[in-house]
Amino acid sequence: MALVTTTEMFKKAYAGGYAVGAFNVNNMEIVQGITEAAREEKAPLILQVSKGARAYANHTYLVKLVEAAVIECPEIPIALHLDHGPDFETCKSCIDGGFTSVMIDGSSHSFEENIALTRKVVEYAHAHGVVVEGELGTLAGVEDEVNVSAEDSSYTRPEEVEEFVEKTGVDSLAIAIGTSHGAYKFTPDQCTRNEKGILVPPPLRFDILEEISRRLPGFPIVLHGSSSVPQNFVKMINENGGKMPDAVGIPEEQLRQAAEMAVCKINIDSDLRLAMTGTVREFFNTNPSKFDPREYLKPARANIKEMVRHKIINVLGCNGKA
Ligand code: G3H
Ligand code: 13P
Ligand code: ZN
Repeated sequence: MALVTTTEMFKKAYAGGYAVGAFNVNNMEIVQGITEAAREEKAPLILQVSKGARAYANHTYLVKLVEAAVIECPEIPIALHLDHGPDFETCKSCIDGGFTSVMIDGSSHSFEENIALTRKVVEYAHAHGVVVEGELGTLAGVEDEVNVSAEDSSYTRPEEVEEFVEKTGVDSLAIAIGTSHGAYKFTPDQCTRNEKGILVPPPLRFDILEEISRRLPGFPIVLHGSSSVPQNFVKMINENGGKMPDAVGIPEEQLRQAAEMAVCKINIDSDLRLAMTGTVREFFNTNPSKFDPREYLKPARANIKEMVRHKIINVLGCNGKA
């Protein structure tokens, strides 16, 4: 199977009450860990590449790594997506360069400017058989060089979504309902603590999601900032020389609930970073004399794979849906 767009994936996900995982990729081990889990679980998959990933690894290397995954996993549909496309030129470069899906992130612009920019990308993308994700509302957190404070973040306004989708022609819409980027999604004072002392964050705004899906029936919704920040990996990092106090993510059951609703794509990056970093830190701590990168990248890749498998089965619900 060649790389696909997300059109069919989202249609099936919407109807089936599950979501497709969109995982950020930056190197070979991350691509392999994710795709091996998706292949074994027969799950549709979106591999996404940010502007920062293209700057780090180079566009061509990333496209060729994903193409290699497509060859290795012929049984599952895989889409290659640009994450947080900052401008028309970056989107065009990815459309021309083999991506099947792009996001144009106009969320920092005014509503009118966001519409105009998104429309321009949609026209170019659709003429080339590529689908487009737009965004309304602003997530807190860090993405590429942009750092949005919690005060500057804002929930998506449901009364804007019909006009945005109609005027832009986007194929899916990312919304802000309380998720945010990174491993510190909530401050401790926004949370309560459970009996084990673990932070419990405030619930996502399912009322906003419901109102948006009522206004856009059948339309695929995207959730960014959806890492759950697994506490086993935070602990692994902290016990092996790291310092990540009070890192907290989105509870898995809330993501599952969103996937059963109109959310068809769930974005995960930070959890991959935590799994990789925790594993490598632990390896170095217990094997201070080892220096062969294969020896520490192998367990890191294996832990990414098992974490992605867990998400496919227990959070996204897309196992067996390829
Ligand atoms: O939304 C941001 C993603 O986690 C990508 O992060 O821009 O550091 O590659 P990055
Ligand atoms: P996390 O930081 O929660 O993994 O979010 C990733 C993301 O939204 C990529 O676009
Ligand atoms: Zn994002």
